[in-house]
Amino acid sequence: MLMARRLRSLKCAPPRPRPFVDFYMKHGVIPTRQDISNLPRHLDRRSALYRSLGIIPSYLRGCSILEFGPGSGHNAVHTLSLDPKRYVLVDANQASLKSSRQLVAQHRRKTDCQVVDCEIESFTTRERFDLVLCEGVVPTQINPAQFTRKVAHMAKPGGVVVITCMDPVSVLPEILRRYLAQQIAPAELPFAERVKILTRYFLPHMRTLKNMSRKPEDWVIDVAIHPWSGRLFSMATAMKALQGRAVPLGSSPKFLTDWRWYKDIHGVSTYDLKQPLDDYHSHVHNFLDFRSEARSKKPSSNLPLIRLAGDIYDRVYTVERKGKPYPRTKISQDVQKVARMVEADIPEAAQALREYAAHVKNLQVTKPSPFRHFQKLWGRGQQYISFVVEE
Ligand SMILES: C[S@@+](CC[C@H](N)C(=O)[O-])C[C@H]1O[C@@H](n2cnc3c(N)ncnc32)[C@H](O)[C@@H]1O
Repeated sequence: MLMARRLRSLKCAPPRPRPFVDFYMKHGVIPTRQDISNLPRHLDRRSALYRSLGIIPSYLRGCSILEFGPGSGHNAVHTLSLDPKRYVLVDANQASLKSSRQLVAQHRRKTDCQVVDCEIESFTTRERFDLVLCEGVVPTQINPAQFTRKVAHMAKPGGVVVITCMDPVSVLPEILRRYLAQQIAPAELPFAERVKILTRYFLPHMRTLKNMSRKPEDWVIDVAIHPWSGRLFSMATAMKALQGRAVPLGSSPKFLTDWRWYKDIHGVSTYDLKQPLDDYHSHVHNFLDFRSEARSKKPSSNLPLIRLAGDIYDRVYTVERKGKPYPRTKISQDVQKVARMVEADIPEAAQALREYAAHVKNLQVTKPSPFRHFQKLWGRGQQYISFVVEE
């Protein structure tokens, strides 16, 4: 009797869902492969990103770098070309580890490299690094703010940490495609068949992106099928998560400004986020369409757009989590509202959204993609932000 009571009081913690890793492991994939057959072009792109983030290539020679979630390892090829002294890569997905190991072995020159099979949350070492990279990993973790602080903690005082962010405005075009995907290739179909149907359907959309280097089927797996189990994480939330610990350095796209006299920046004012947060809110409408460079707006005037995009995001995912349905007429109305909000600043995006709203109501799932304008609408999906970690 006593034994039975004891057993009842012992609760076995349900296995913690692991964003990314569980899904990738289940299907044996790492859907972030890039076409790097034109290697100089790949290296140029990565150099452009690093410049935008304030990372100077020659400063990395002889440095130590830690990369969390290298995925397929294609970005590591560029990092290795900068000849760091030491480079540690940490991932928990077997397909990522295999691909990263192969690419590191192929492209390593003198760098001392280690590819470690470990969950980021439980990775520990006393070593601290000059540069910590964590791309395409933080948003949709269960607690992205805590995760970011863990990542930043691994940088040396005065070192740099790079993360990526996603907010509901920047991913809206992809979320609208995900809604289409739910209708065209429902979850009941076998995985391989869904990938095939959706790749065929969205290929004309992807072809409009001249410099897309990711494999089309990988975009389908990662964006249209992958259940994003955790929360989005905007640049604004990222800056707040690291306030007092790290100072924003650069971003891609590049739009953070600071008009203060440098001599006014010391002590607590070092961590004053008013200007970068205003910059974010006054430009976030440009995240809806990667072609857009519309003028900045009063920061508070973008809040309704953020809220409505967030609402659409939640509703699309609620359908998959077997919550409330999101009828086609309702998403059509919501998308029309977004179109009206951005009409004056981004007319091309508004036109694409109106077309989506018109078609989604009567979508013929067996027909090819009917979109002319919407197929060219891509948001600024993920943004990069770099920080200098507290001295
Ligand atoms: C979307 S991929 C990004 C890959 C690469 N950084 C890029 O930007 O192309 C995310 C990678 O992070 C790994 N990852 C995500 N969460 C992780 C965690 N908690 N622990 C270990 N690895 C994780 C995944 O296995 C995957 O390889």
